[in-house]
Amino acid sequence: MLAMKKSFSILFFLSFLLLEIICFGIFPNEFRLQSSLATCDGNTPTTTNAVAKAAPDIRVLLGVLTRADKYERRSLVRLAYALQPAPVRAVVHVRFVVCNLTKEEDAALVEIEVAAYGDIIVLNCTENMDNGKTHTYFSSVPRLFADAPYDYVGKTDDDTYYRLAALADALRGKPRRDVYYGFLTPCHNRPETQYMSGMGYVVSWDVAAWVAATVELRDDLKGPEDKVFGRWLRWGGRGRNVYGAEPRMYDYLDGEMRQGATCFRHTLQEDTVAVHKLKDNLKWARTLKFFNATEGHRHSVLYHVDH
Ligand SMILES: *[C@@H]1O[C@H](CO)[C@@H](O)[C@H](O)[C@H]1NC(C)=O
Ligand SMILES: *[C@@H]1O[C@H](CO)[C@@H](O)[C@H](O)[C@H]1NC(C)=O
Ligand SMILES: *[C@@H]1O[C@H](CO)[C@@H](O)[C@H](O)[C@H]1NC(C)=O
Repeated sequence: MLAMKKSFSILFFLSFLLLEIICFGIFPNEFRLQSSLATCDGNTPTTTNAVAKAAPDIRVLLGVLTRADKYERRSLVRLAYALQPAPVRAVVHVRFVVCNLTKEEDAALVEIEVAAYGDIIVLNCTENMDNGKTHTYFSSVPRLFADAPYDYVGKTDDDTYYRLAALADALRGKPRRDVYYGFLTPCHNRPETQYMSGMGYVVSWDVAAWVAATVELRDDLKGPEDKVFGRWLRWGGRGRNVYGAEPRMYDYLDGEMRQGATCFRHTLQEDTVAVHKLKDNLKWARTLKFFNATEGHRHSVLYHVDH
């Protein structure tokens, strides 16, 4: 009886969350939130920004696949996106994507986050690497956002920093159908088995809808999610407009690391679309500094920061 009550209340909470993601919550006005974190009625708190108000001609959903219990990383990633300059004439919604909230603390704390930021999607899946979470994500999105479809749906991880304006500009001139955009791996060889690296890839809405509608894919979930995704598209003959974003997408490298530059790893560059392998706060800090996120903030007697 108790167990029934508990699972009922979790179910109730899940449906609450599903409702919540459709209605994207409330934002504290104090935050300088950009269109990446806009509320679902389309209002951005930065309405004074005339540039951001130009009618968008492209809509992108970028899901950051993460785990419910990664609070610190999520707050850093959220902050990093909130401080990016708003993409011009584009809507890019960044949403954190987690599986079932199975722990009592996560159920409560993530609910609070949803109430404060409204940028979390809770999927009906069990958290695990490479167990089909990517499949659940791409096959849930077309249904969850049926009322306001996006042009493109992207998947990335919480160790990748996308530059949303650069992404929107890169996608703007591309077809709106049958698109598979990202970093092609392995580099430079065997096009017949290439796929987009899991650091972050984007497909057009029709491809996501195809993933959702194709039951056969549910029997093909084993293996690294990015490789598996590429296999599905090859099998189904989808995503034939392939765009490799190399070298504008890459793994992070700085002079203090022992590794050297490769076809997939190099130092930060100005026209970056996405940088991956930001595994710790120092790498995030250096990346944000490189892209001038630490510049131009109001000075105050209340703090002193040495750069
Ligand atoms: C969630 O997934 C489980 C197992 O796949 C399934 O049995 C259940 O019906 C799903 N629940 C909802 C609300 O979709
Ligand atoms: C997620 O949690 C709900 C509620 O406890 C449960 O019904 C469902 O089966 C779970 N889904 C998966 C895939 O574990
Ligand atoms: C950061 O600001 C400096 C100084 O204004 C500028 O030269 C540089 O191009 C900017 N970097 C990026 C990535 O925009």
